[in-house]
Amino acid sequence: MTDLLLTSPASLPGRLRVPVIASPMFLVSNPALVIAQCCAGIVGSFPALNARPQEELGNWLTQIETALQACHAAEPDRIIAPYAVNLIVHQSNTRLQDDLATCVKHRVPIVITSLHAPDLVVEKVHAYGGIVLHDVTTLRHARKAIAAGVDGLILVCAGAGGHAGALSPFALAAEVRAIFDGLLVLAGSISNGAGVLAAQVMGCDLAYMGTRFIASEESAAQPLHKQMIVDGSAADIIYTPYFSGVPGNYLKPSIRAAGLDPDNLQPQDKSAADFGKPKRWKDIWGSGHGIGAIRDILPAAEIVRQLAEQYAQARARVGASL
Ligand SMILES: Cc1cc2nc3c(=O)[nH]c(=O)nc-3n(C[C@H](O)[C@H](O)[C@H](O)COP(=O)(O)O)c2cc1C
Repeated sequence: MTDLLLTSPASLPGRLRVPVIASPMFLVSNPALVIAQCCAGIVGSFPALNARPQEELGNWLTQIETALQACHAAEPDRIIAPYAVNLIVHQSNTRLQDDLATCVKHRVPIVITSLHAPDLVVEKVHAYGGIVLHDVTTLRHARKAIAAGVDGLILVCAGAGGHAGALSPFALAAEVRAIFDGLLVLAGSISNGAGVLAAQVMGCDLAYMGTRFIASEESAAQPLHKQMIVDGSAADIIYTPYFSGVPGNYLKPSIRAAGLDPDNLQPQDKSAADFGKPKRWKDIWGSGHGIGAIRDILPAAEIVRQLAEQYAQARARVGASL
């Protein structure tokens, strides 16, 4: 099979069927989803922490690599995208060194880092020819990541699922593009092909899409989580620090199902946090604002096919109107 390592970070968009990275999602992304996404021609990813215990990470990577090899052997001309693993760079992540060593051993093509500037990760991933993308919500964090030598930045803007930023994508994309000419990936409520094109028009290279893939057949999300996304709209999402101390976007119906009133959450109360409070991610489900455009649970390959079609239609529409 052709090596999934990239010749340069800039070559990534040209390697894909649609310029999309399917974002990593805690308790949602699994090998089946990543394999389906990569075989359909977009980057698939997962948080290393989803593979439990730590020793399982190597098995997941072998499973993904074997499946992508088989996909290539069956159809040598098919576009097969590289895959990515998400590492949380924070002192609370006691697995970080072991997970990084496993990624280095498997020469993971793309490593996505979250939270702290990933100096150590960059050095080790660059040594075997991988690339590092770091997610940021502000210009200040973008500057730190650039100083750490990352190849690309993921701008997690207002309306993104899970721990999202508060800035408009118009504002953050313009500010970061002015200081960085590496890969820029835009995140926040992108659910269709027109949104992918919009990200490029705004100066980014790729779109980052999470929530759309929660409602896929392969995702490990609970069936009710998938259905809430299909049934919901932006008004069903609340942005709150209540569950983790960091602001995130969550589905209000999941908060109600856990016995809380999403419109009347009490300020953080330590005893409530420790005893009996529903667990975020497991009981309280993350979602971006873009769910109004998601009306069905589909195989990931069909989602990507639709994205490619919508992207081509949006390009034609914009071209015709100029
Ligand atoms: C349920 C859920 C879990 C997530 N878990 C993670 C995670 O473990 N690591 C991470 O970097 N981002 C995580 N994210 C954020 C996504 O990677 C991405 O920024 C977001 O989904 C993009 O916005 P969108 O959902 O509107 O497409 C999560 C998002 C959701 C919805």
